[in-house]
Amino acid sequence: MKALRVLSKDQPAQLVEMNSDELTPGEVHIKIHYSSINYKDALAVTAKGKIIRNFPLNPGIDFSGTVLSCANSDFKPGDSVLVTGCSVGEEWDGGFAEEVKAHANSVIALPKGMSLKEAMFFGTAGFTAALAVHRLLENHQSPAKGPMLVSGATGGVGSFSVALLRHLGFEVIALTGKKESQSEYLKNLGASQVMNLEDLGLDNKPLGRALFGGVVDNLGGDFLSKALPHVDLWGNVAAIGLAQSPTLQSTVMPFILRGVSLLGVSSNNCPLKLRREIWRLLTHEWKAPGFEHIETQEIPLDEVPQVAKLMLERKTHGRILVNLVNPKS
Ligand SMILES: NC(=O)c1ccc[n+]([C@@H]2O[C@H](COP(=O)([O-])OP(=O)(O)OC[C@H]3O[C@@H](n4cnc5c(N)ncnc54)[C@H](OP(=O)(O)O)[C@@H]3O)[C@@H](O)[C@H]2O)c1
Repeated sequence: MKALRVLSKDQPAQLVEMNSDELTPGEVHIKIHYSSINYKDALAVTAKGKIIRNFPLNPGIDFSGTVLSCANSDFKPGDSVLVTGCSVGEEWDGGFAEEVKAHANSVIALPKGMSLKEAMFFGTAGFTAALAVHRLLENHQSPAKGPMLVSGATGGVGSFSVALLRHLGFEVIALTGKKESQSEYLKNLGASQVMNLEDLGLDNKPLGRALFGGVVDNLGGDFLSKALPHVDLWGNVAAIGLAQSPTLQSTVMPFILRGVSLLGVSSNNCPLKLRREIWRLLTHEWKAPGFEHIETQEIPLDEVPQVAKLMLERKTHGRILVNLVNPKS
């Protein structure tokens, strides 16, 4: 079988031929049809971030495919399944390979009505956006509280967040570093306004003018520090990413004077029951019309390293699928 493998620490991934006996162990042996490239994968493949914890390892934090065999009664050969997170592509061999062996408790039966390709169109990005929105709604975020700001809006998680929030009746302000070239794309997804950082005019005060009902944040760092003081009463901020920086500097003012909540989103270890519910929602009630506008590119396994590099240079947008069964299509 072919795999994109990281052989040792600080080395970029390389295409290799390997035997399925060499895969990290798991009860469910799966033939992978699709994987996708997420920000974390880009870091792992290029050796730019400390993502992989065991070497050698196949990166790829999500995949969909069909079961070849299962060591327990959870799945049978031919079943269509998907996996996102659960430390695949970090601790266990992941989706940038023709086969994988996954732990049964990480495997989700493909929801009825969803194809293997669609599962990876959503992948970790769509799943994470939906998980963030689920957390916001659980904490009583509502359209009446004001517009939602989505940062890193043209990225995978950002694109799904914009479309899903709009579908659920929220007004969405999309924040992007690509305002000139991607405004039309973001408006098609459902954003009512597209802004860059300068347009937002965030200041450095512990408490600023209330501008947003809430925030879905993919950047962290200085942006998140400056956005928190501008969230209105009882609004929520879903902290998803660190594309700008992992640091956060804040005072307690937004929390104690406005009742703002900072909600953590960790798709990697989302409990199985909630995981299934999120996938059900994405298949049915939360299938937003805006998703149709999310640009999707399909590439073969051997193109993953160069696309990963482009992703870190902020030269990609939308979703990038890796086709493992029919790479020329
Ligand atoms: N917590 C979780 O469970 C979870 C799950 C998935 C992803 N994540 C994290 O969420 C973030 C987004 O992931 P993704 O897969 O959607 O990545 P992505 O497709 O690369 O999107 C990230 C977007 O952020 C913006 N961006 C990138 N680098 C930036 C920088 N240096 N400064 C400011 N903006 C920058 C760009 O959007 P614009 O050009 O439009 O500004 C980019 O398209 C990443 O940090 C990722 O690690 C977390």
